[in-house]
Amino acid sequence: MQLVKPDRKYYQSYVEAVEEYRMHKVQVFPFLDTESMDIFETMRNFEAGIQLPAGWVPATYFWMVDGEEFLGEICIRHALTEALLEFGGHIGYGVRCSKWNQGIGTEMLKKALPYARDVLQLEKVLLTCNDGNYGSVHVIERNGGILWDKIEHVVEGEERLTRRYWIALGKERGVRGSK
Ligand SMILES: CC(C)(COP(=O)(O)OP(=O)(O)OC[C@H]1O[C@@H](n2cnc3c(N)ncnc32)[C@H](O)[C@@H]1OP(=O)(O)O)[C@@H](O)C(=O)NCCC(=O)NCCS
Repeated sequence: MQLVKPDRKYYQSYVEAVEEYRMHKVQVFPFLDTESMDIFETMRNFEAGIQLPAGWVPATYFWMVDGEEFLGEICIRHALTEALLEFGGHIGYGVRCSKWNQGIGTEMLKKALPYARDVLQLEKVLLTCNDGNYGSVHVIERNGGILWDKIEHVVEGEERLTRRYWIALGKERGVRGSK
């Protein structure tokens, strides 16, 4: 399993994962629309800060893959906005539905944090998740997330209870419970 920059050689597998999200009605990422956009160009533009939607910040995307199989994706935003501070944070991720509960989300976040620390030079990152998203709570807490608070708010017309976590990006990092 490795964390890589998105590449066309994983595209067929990515499309299959998108279909899994659709079947399970899981809303994960804006880049699920594989038919109407060149997702690779879009991701490159996001990283370079080109043609960003109004109010969006640059973001870097990585994919977790095994051989040529797409397992999950993770997006690291380069900065926070008022909106991201409330919902979204620095990092968002998703694991394809057929691969949940195999430790992939935890490993993916672990592998992505050095980029935030070493390339983006962030001292800490904010992660948010729905209060009832136990899988995501595990992923964040296993990577050293410290609960900041829980906020009640309305996001895209939906009432939510959102957990906000900070992960400090010290020199020595490891996943809790692993060597
Ligand atoms: C959240 C998500 C990324 C987790 O990925 P994952 O690969 O399944 O995560 P992991 O396997 O590393 O860890 C999940 C842990 O949560 C636990 N878990 C999952 N569902 C649970 C539930 N309903 N109650 C209690 N624990 C649960 C699992 O048992 C696992 O713990 P374990 O390793 O001790 O067994 C994945 O479910 C996903 O893509 N969800 C949709 C998108 C999403 O919610 N993204 C996060 C937005 S904040």
